[in-house]
Amino acid sequence: MVTINTPAVATHAGLLGLGAYRPSRVVPNSELVDRIESSDEWIRERSGIIERRYAGEDETVTTMATSAAIAALADAKVVATDIDLVILATFTHRYATPSAAAEVSAAIGAVNAAAVDVGAACAGFAYAVGLADAAVRAGTAKTVLVIGSEKISEVIDFDDRGTAFLFGDGAGAAVIGATTEQGVGPTVWGADGSQKDAIIMHPDTFTAGKEKTNSVLTMQGQTVFRWAISSMGDVCKRALDAAGVTPEDIKAFVPHQANMRITNSLVKNLGFPESVVIARDIESAGNTSAASIPLALDRLRQNGEVASGDLVLMIGFGAGLAFAAQVARLP
Ligand SMILES: CC(C)(COP(=O)(O)OP(=O)(O)OC[C@H]1O[C@@H](n2cnc3c(N)ncnc32)[C@H](O)[C@@H]1OP(=O)(O)O)[C@@H](O)C(=O)NCCC(=O)NCCS
Repeated sequence: MVTINTPAVATHAGLLGLGAYRPSRVVPNSELVDRIESSDEWIRERSGIIERRYAGEDETVTTMATSAAIAALADAKVVATDIDLVILATFTHRYATPSAAAEVSAAIGAVNAAAVDVGAACAGFAYAVGLADAAVRAGTAKTVLVIGSEKISEVIDFDDRGTAFLFGDGAGAAVIGATTEQGVGPTVWGADGSQKDAIIMHPDTFTAGKEKTNSVLTMQGQTVFRWAISSMGDVCKRALDAAGVTPEDIKAFVPHQANMRITNSLVKNLGFPESVVIARDIESAGNTSAASIPLALDRLRQNGEVASGDLVLMIGFGAGLAFAAQVARLP
């Protein structure tokens, strides 16, 4: 029998650098409340959101992803030509094909990279980190660029009381490559497609030969809320166990920024000691889906609340219903 070569493998993989991009337009609650008969107080109390950012006309999923990617490459001190795989998580790229990842690869000059988008909505970044870790250790890629980028302001129904205030735009990125010790814990992940209607984006118009327009996001808020608080704590515990660490070993908890009340419930459930920093980027970013974890990480680093070598616990969850969690060491 003819044998097939096994790729040269790296023993360990980890985060080498991080980057983020926040659009400049700040949108306070007061701008949104009239159309949904709401108030700044209600939104703050029920979601924790004070303001969010919306991308401008010239800011797209790919331009924001490109900016975040360039920042992550600089942070990692890696040149674009050394990237051999780009994984981009998004649900708001305007085109079903080609991928946003291919466009970003071209924009940054990652001419040696394979490129693929991941469709796991708010779990997308954590999914992509899991895939990148596995690719590096399996020898499929040496250096992977992982990006989460969303322009959710384009798919929101601004008259829908359950979603109009919740979401924001932005992008975050990480470079993942070979490290001397393992820097990413085993990814605990899953999906339950039987709940596909809980968060779904319906294309209003999808006519052959025409660009897709007026897609709007719909959500069964309470269903998602109950699912998150009843099952994501266990997923976090499994990710800690899989990594062989305890809540005391963690410097920061970085859950998907879906709703401050979900974060608070998970924090209580997990019983973190006071020393653990909790990411609360939702206050000023809203829910940015696949971008929320890297944006929240970036905020913690900018504020000096975490440092190189610290362990963080990340969990993404949302439409699918899909989830993914892992422990990672900061670059
Ligand atoms: C969307 C969300 C904030 C709504 O909060 P909620 O407490 O579930 O709100 P409900 O739909 O139960 O409504 C409660 C009350 O507030 C009112 N209400 C709903 N939306 C409102 C709004 N935007 N402003 C003011 N009042 C509102 C309702 O009419 C209802 O009033 P009533 O008690 O008099 O009937 C919440 O369900 C949520 O965050 N869910 C998870 C969403 C999420 O994480 N999605 C992304 C996952 S990736």
